Amino acid sequence: MARRAPRTDPADLDRALCAAALDELVGAVLVLDANLRIRVATPEAAALLAAPVPTGTSAATLLCGDRPKRPFAEALAAGLPFQAVIPRPGELVGGEQVRVRSVPIPGDGGEDGGPPLGWIVYLAPVASGDGEAVLFHGMWTRDARMKETFRIIEKVAGEEITVLVRGETGTGKELTAHALHALSPRRDGPFRAINCAALPANLLESELFGHVKGAFTGAVKDTPGHVQLAHGGTLFLDEVAELPLELQAKLLRVLETRTVLPVGGRDAIPVDVRVVSATHRALRAEVEAGRFRADLMFRLRVIPVRLPPLRERPADVALLTDKLIAELNARGRRQIERVAPAAAIALERHEWPGNVRELRNVLAYAFAIGEGPVLELHDLPDELASLTAPGAEVVVPAAPAAADDGSPELRRIRDALARTGGNRDRAAKLLGWSRVTLWRRMRSLGLA
Ligand SMILES: Nc1ncnc2c1ncn2[C@@H]1O[C@H](COP(=O)(O)OP(=O)(O)OP(=O)(O)O)[C@@H](O)[C@H]1O
Ligand SMILES: [Mg+2]
Repeated sequence: MARRAPRTDPADLDRALCAAALDELVGAVLVLDANLRIRVATPEAAALLAAPVPTGTSAATLLCGDRPKRPFAEALAAGLPFQAVIPRPGELVGGEQVRVRSVPIPGDGGEDGGPPLGWIVYLAPVASGDGEAVLFHGMWTRDARMKETFRIIEKVAGEEITVLVRGETGTGKELTAHALHALSPRRDGPFRAINCAALPANLLESELFGHVKGAFTGAVKDTPGHVQLAHGGTLFLDEVAELPLELQAKLLRVLETRTVLPVGGRDAIPVDVRVVSATHRALRAEVEAGRFRADLMFRLRVIPVRLPPLRERPADVALLTDKLIAELNARGRRQIERVAPAAAIALERHEWPGNVRELRNVLAYAFAIGEGPVLELHDLPDELASLTAPGAEVVVPAAPAAADDGSPELRRIRDALARTGGNRDRAAKLLGWSRVTLWRRMRSLGLA
């Protein structure tokens, strides 16, 4: 009896079943074999790439084409997990982008050794407006929130509104204050900056408000303070949360009366200044703790502007690395043409407590230490280089934004991974979870 030939090869059916199941579970993913050829592509992945993905296609060719810069392809070839934002295959530069992230599938040696059996590549669309690099008054970004901040700065700069800039050290508070001045009708007037954390109270008082001759020993002549010197321009009060309470009262009076009374003086002098202030602290918490006057806070933060830390702007690390390297190259001593994948991963995984200033310093260090056209992992300072030492590539990934709210689960997982050197089997045991549960929780928290 003649049997009907199956309409489809069982292997193809299996693959389609696998793809559909993965699509259901995780969405847009590619599964690669050890030779980096695509074995499974979920329907969502094909939709995202806007292209059919034939089995056996080389992942590097599909995702990176023959572009000159192919860090994602290089990292795959080097056996290193990586994530990047790449132009959608077939798009011209500047078109739509896709976020790609590769995770190795452990081979026989488990997670601790041996080459991976293959790779999972997660794909995600990049929100429009979150990808294109822009330069705003010395600040580069691809980050949608930073761009929104720039839009606010542009909008309020022209008005006389008082702005409070909040951000961690090295996030660009000073650049923002300069931008506000440069975009205002006061741009031809003076820009005076004073750091309220840098001086003891009595010196700060005289620096800010000035003093008259004979006000104190050594006051040999009438001296204007920063408030007066900023007349017709902008006064930038850096680290304003550190202003002692008695000077807060005095500053409030300046803002309310638009006059300044120098130390030892009797006559208030009219002043026309626009105040921009900055702090790394939450001013509201300072008010609650009794260290900052609520009335002054309301005066200063008519418009609050927040600069997100670098670890919340993952796409900016690579962008700023490029731009800062270009700056260093322009000095001519060395020409760095590209960043080795392992170094790029270390830069991406670092938490950047010192933000852009720290990145600038790290690159200046690497530039000076290394040689030749490639920035290598071992050119980076120890605290970064050790993050991606061979065999340690499963080090805990950089904390996503969720870390900020102190999510206890996130912290537990990171602790467990840190204690087990990144070994997920042992970390899962430590947590009393199955490996799959750990993986699922890590994925939902953006750690896997
Ligand atoms: N988005 C950016 N693009 C390029 N360079 C930047 C960016 N943000 C900051 N920088 C650079 O980083 C350094 C720190 O910036 P800035 O002095 O404005 O930070 P800050 O918030 O005032 O820091 P701190 O609180 O420590 O005073 C500067 O060299 C600045 O040029
Ligand atoms: Mg500063």
